[in-house]
Amino acid sequence: VCRGLSSSAVRAAAIKHVTIIGGGQMGAGIAQVAASTGHTVTLVDTSDDILKKAVKGIEGSLKRVVKKKFADKPEAGEEFIQKVLQNVSVSTDAGAAAQTLSHLCFIYYNTSSLPISDIASSTNRLDRFGGLHFFNPVPMMKLVEVIGTSATSQETFDSLLNFSKALGKTPVSCKDTPGFIVNRLLVPYVLEAIRLHERGHGSKEDIDIAMKLGAGYPMGPFELSDYVGLDTMKFIMDGWNEKDPDNPLFAPSEMLNKLVAEGKYGKKTGEGFYKYK
Ligand code: 3HC
Repeated sequence: VCRGLSSSAVRAAAIKHVTIIGGGQMGAGIAQVAASTGHTVTLVDTSDDILKKAVKGIEGSLKRVVKKKFADKPEAGEEFIQKVLQNVSVSTDAGAAAQTLSHLCFIYYNTSSLPISDIASSTNRLDRFGGLHFFNPVPMMKLVEVIGTSATSQETFDSLLNFSKALGKTPVSCKDTPGFIVNRLLVPYVLEAIRLHERGHGSKEDIDIAMKLGAGYPMGPFELSDYVGLDTMKFIMDGWNEKDPDNPLFAPSEMLNKLVAEGKYGKKTGEGFYKYK
């Protein structure tokens, strides 16, 4: 990231370094993509264990990527993995990272449902604050939603678009509205599938098959919920329901609430709608 530059220089400058706070599934995925496209990355989280798991996840995902990309040249593939991993450093010192942030040109926030303007208001850099929304699995999903608030400067917005392209992604511009574009359509659809099942109008398996073969989705709604995480689905829906309780699209699901209360979050915990080995 560029430091101490005028706004026209900022517009022209390419982002070189990325600090990512949060080493979960999304943070690690973004770190992987940024490091793979030649950026240096600092991944920050609260414990060494989380960071170790994140780097292991990045390594595992890179292996899947090179299997295809370097199918005929396994040595070049291994070299690529090492090069990408060298671009990633980790830190548990959020304070030091925040200190660096105060000198940065841009702050981008990756969020599935929180209003960007609410988060921006906790900083004094409103013009240099914008949102990026990546999709799971980050290395595979080509889309990035780019969100500007009314205070986001054109330079910042352009830099968000350019950065997304530099990561090899396709950006779309979104307003700072709940769920932006994808989640606003996808999450109510998934919840409607759960309600349909709750009413006894279809088994999970049949609904998943129906949406894959009848609508061309790569995963059915129950598979997708388990993949994204039932806790995440619930978190998004609860937030919208709280703000707009009369909207039937945002009505809670007893089945989803029960699974989350039992700690069955999906693939990551070994059980959600389905069981995983
Ligand atoms: N890293 C690297 N490569 C990966 C990967 C990962 N994490 N996950 C899958 N792949 C690769 C596999 O290695 C495989 O490569 P190959 O073609 O060379 O064998 C390829 O992707 C296909 O994978 P699979 O054969 O295992 O399975 P699929 O064909 O079903 O593809 C998928 C997997 C890309 C995840 C596909 O099922 C899919 O697109 N699912 C829908 C995902 C989706 O909708 N995501 C958005 C969720 S909403 C969200 O994230 C927003 C948040 O705010 C909640």
